[in-house]
Amino acid sequence: MCGIIGYIGRRQAGPILLEGLKRLEYRGYDSAGVCVLSSNGNLSIVRVLGKIAKLEERLKAGLPNGTAGLGHSRWATHGRPSEENAHPHTDCSGELVLVHNGIIENYLELKEELIRRGHVFRSETDTEVLAHLFEEELRRLQTSDFSAKGGSVSGGKLQTSDFRLQTSDKAVLAAVNRVTKKLRGAYAIVIAAKRWGRQIVGIRKDCPLVIGCADGESFLASDVPALLPFTKKVIFMNDNEAAVLREGRAPRLYTTTGKPVHRAPQDVPWDPLMAEKGGFKHFMHKEIHEGPRSFEDTLRARTYEENLTSLLAEIGLTPQSAADISRIQFLACGTAHHAGMVGEYLFEKWAGLAAKADIASEFRYSARNLQPGTLVIAVSQSGETADTLAAVRMAKSCKGVLTAGIVNQIGSTLTRETGGTLYTRCGPEIGVASTKAYLAQLAAIYLLALAFGKARGSISSREFRSLTEELLELPHKLRVVLAGLERPVTELAREFQDSKGFLYLGRHVLYPIALEGALKLKEISYIHAEGYAAGEMKHGPIALIDREMPVFVFNPKGCGLYEKMRSNIEEARARGGRILAVITKGDAKMSRMAYRVMEIPSASHEFFEPVLCVAAAQLFAYHMANLKGLDVDQPRNLAKSVTVE
Ligand code: G6P
Repeated sequence: MCGIIGYIGRRQAGPILLEGLKRLEYRGYDSAGVCVLSSNGNLSIVRVLGKIAKLEERLKAGLPNGTAGLGHSRWATHGRPSEENAHPHTDCSGELVLVHNGIIENYLELKEELIRRGHVFRSETDTEVLAHLFEEELRRLQTSDFSAKGGSVSGGKLQTSDFRLQTSDKAVLAAVNRVTKKLRGAYAIVIAAKRWGRQIVGIRKDCPLVIGCADGESFLASDVPALLPFTKKVIFMNDNEAAVLREGRAPRLYTTTGKPVHRAPQDVPWDPLMAEKGGFKHFMHKEIHEGPRSFEDTLRARTYEENLTSLLAEIGLTPQSAADISRIQFLACGTAHHAGMVGEYLFEKWAGLAAKADIASEFRYSARNLQPGTLVIAVSQSGETADTLAAVRMAKSCKGVLTAGIVNQIGSTLTRETGGTLYTRCGPEIGVASTKAYLAQLAAIYLLALAFGKARGSISSREFRSLTEELLELPHKLRVVLAGLERPVTELAREFQDSKGFLYLGRHVLYPIALEGALKLKEISYIHAEGYAAGEMKHGPIALIDREMPVFVFNPKGCGLYEKMRSNIEEARARGGRILAVITKGDAKMSRMAYRVMEIPSASHEFFEPVLCVAAAQLFAYHMANLKGLDVDQPRNLAKSVTVE
């Protein structure tokens, strides 16, 4: 997602900002910009739509001298990719400049209030509200009639005409404290203000921000790779912390309420490539661990009942038009299709709607005549998969059919071909085998199924609230799963790395997870794996089972068909199959049945189990491929985005 770089020191800032941004290119972006602070206090901003190379070209035309500044590469979330929406953003008076990574959930409310107070907005971003909020705080500090000595950070009551005081850490933190109190959401912000003189300030909550320390100069960046050309000494900021960076002085760290924080810099032993991968050996492994984050970001500001109308508006519907929909048709390929399959169960149960997920490459050549009132939901990470696009076009030719997309790539073809797009927010996915995008697609489908249930009156407000509360707990549980399973799954992979084939079994909402687990293993470890609905096993695959055919099963306790699944597992065990079971922690019965177990916390609702179970399957596939020494991120014969038929 967005990349941030900030610098203050004795060197020219321009080239440092550009170099930092180039090191963040791997995160993906659609526009970029920098601001250089000159010694006479001027803020010079240059922004472009497109690549860093274009920014570099523009800067060659002349950038004012200055030894401090900030830069940003933007991955659009609020507002299309454009020069106006690119960062840095500034306030009405051009007094301050800032860059931001994350999502300000309550930006619409804040924006409306600011407009009422006379602020003029120049972009469609959520970020710009931050500039205007800081503008108000800086003005307040200047005009406040509190005595200088009595200034307190917590009340933001600090004054005034004394320049030294206005630029003091205390004054800066007073503004930071007052602004951050108003924000809901996730943010890493780097900000500079004329009135603060030669200093830059970083603030972090739920988005990464790292301080780089060097002799007489300091840096801020959203990720270590941006710092590596300059320093290996870093301080990782925690949530609700602010850093004040000044030339010739070590960075100072505080909580956003103004309490000093003492954290010594540490050395990062990473080489630049390792740093891009966040210290992981492969992008896929890093992205598996970004699953909770993608899920969380996709839910952000979309789970509240009062936001139902705006959520449905994202896919071009109103609560009324959603209530009039009579059927749901998912269209997708590969992993995205497995997300749609989970959607079948959710829409049927929560919204009382018949729902079907089809493989786009089959659907496009079918003679299916979709009924009027059908809503087609195309699911795609890239938004460019040729078969998915063709299937959507075919569906659009049926009378009375509405279309929507669940897409990650902003502005992609699919987003232009459907009636509306619910964007997943997982940032660029680099590993060819989809992992974090799948989690984000599930999050989007949960949101829509609940919204339809509410709009159609098939779930009550109370149910809606309790389900969304449970949904919001999933990212935390997913983090627990990933942390807990990393080691046991590595050992499991070591034990089974020479197996020639696997059977993956699940039922109900975990049937698509069995398919996804098998797909992941095939894709990256080149081991044959078959995903099957466990109840169907005795109609064929059971003939394959013996000691040499490990059976990977998903049977957490919360599963509606838990007992049925246990019987299916018994059948496999009776034929000598070694059972590798994803189970709820502490389930003694399943532990006794299984050859090896992968324990996960309870998801609290059976429909949420896929989120936790799929993480086990992703990790297993990853470790199998890694142990075999394969090219995990770019498996043979596969493409990230299949833009041809
Ligand atoms: C390719 C990728 C898969 C992906 C599928 C659908 O096969 O390798 O990871 O699931 O395409 O891609 P989409 O971009 O439409 O989600």
